[in-house]
Amino acid sequence: MFRVNEDYLKLPGSYLFSTIGKKVAAYTAANPDKKIIRLGIGDVTQPLCPAVIKALHNAVDEMADASTFKGYSPDLGYDFLRNTIAQKDYKDRGCDIAADEIFVSDGAKSDSGNIQEIFSKDTKVAVCDPVYPVYVDTNVMAGRTGVYDSETGLWSNVIYMPCTAENDFSPELPKEVPDLIYLCYPNNPTGASITKDALQRWVDYANKNGSVIVYDAAYEAYISEDNVPHSIYECEGARTCAIEIRSFSKNAGFTGTRLGFTVVPKDIKTAEGVTLHQLWARRHGTKFNGAPYIVQKAGEAVYSAEGRAETQQQIAYYMNNAKCIYEGLKSAGYSVYGGVNAPYIWLKTPDKMTSWEFFDFLLETANVVGTPGSGFGPSGEGYFRLTAFGSYENTVEAIDRIKKL
Ligand code: MLT
Repeated sequence: MFRVNEDYLKLPGSYLFSTIGKKVAAYTAANPDKKIIRLGIGDVTQPLCPAVIKALHNAVDEMADASTFKGYSPDLGYDFLRNTIAQKDYKDRGCDIAADEIFVSDGAKSDSGNIQEIFSKDTKVAVCDPVYPVYVDTNVMAGRTGVYDSETGLWSNVIYMPCTAENDFSPELPKEVPDLIYLCYPNNPTGASITKDALQRWVDYANKNGSVIVYDAAYEAYISEDNVPHSIYECEGARTCAIEIRSFSKNAGFTGTRLGFTVVPKDIKTAEGVTLHQLWARRHGTKFNGAPYIVQKAGEAVYSAEGRAETQQQIAYYMNNAKCIYEGLKSAGYSVYGGVNAPYIWLKTPDKMTSWEFFDFLLETANVVGTPGSGFGPSGEGYFRLTAFGSYENTVEAIDRIKKL
């Protein structure tokens, strides 16, 4: 009889957003007349912008013509996109990143889940708490997280870095030195951001201790303040310790189109004398056949003058929603965080409700779906996340309903 990977059996429950999806589906089936407003999962609602649609149409036409048809994409990405990213996301910001250090993929979720594969099984991992669940779950699958304590919701072999209102959602540098540190800024789920000086301290810490930082910058396009870095490579020394993950999902509405990339500088060397760049290239080549040509052409269009202007309008639209949520809840007496450099608003649940109690209460009384903070980790207990990715009309209606509770 076959046996399964026992590490998968250690995963508690289902994936956070699947659990929420099932609960909402059950409520909707029992209450078909209610208008549910979904501000739970961070999924965009604005259509792809005209520059992207035009690029998609053109690329589809190329696929219909034998002289321009494309088969497999290069597994690391087409040069036209890697060169554009290197120039616009990095060189234009003064960051020393070359096109061949950029690995194009089908999205940041896969990359942030897969990157742990190139590290040894005894790698000690540090995560913020609360945290995007993919980082922890994929390390559980890899068998390096130890034993799960269902009382505390903690894994014995993970270093948790609590982020709460008391420390302004900024984790301390860990005393026990991790091998791999996951940081996400602007942060999902708390909406917190990091200053360049604070990020420099993490880079210095990693270089001093021989740690690697996986820096998830999926929400960088939402940064509005000047002292907040868009890339970890704005920090001195990041080339020797940091991997950066980026996404087109939130900056250009590609959640259903799928495109992202990971930067692995050639300067991060392992104790065995190989580079992480070599290993990630080997992994990519073996397990991935490249993001679709038409999608990479769409990604390239995001960097055109039209694409830039149009996607900036989308971001402004969502950030107007964020303001509406933030100010609406604040005026209703809630303690609210985030929403300035990020499309997420993080709030304290009222009346000492647990995160899941507030989830049920909001769903049943206001027909609004959010995400329970405890689903992101034990330090998220008593908090709740709302996303700014809904339509403006629904966002206003949701906040009006919450204010009336
Ligand atoms: C979220 O809601 O946290 C995100 O949409 C999840 C993701 O990007 O995979």
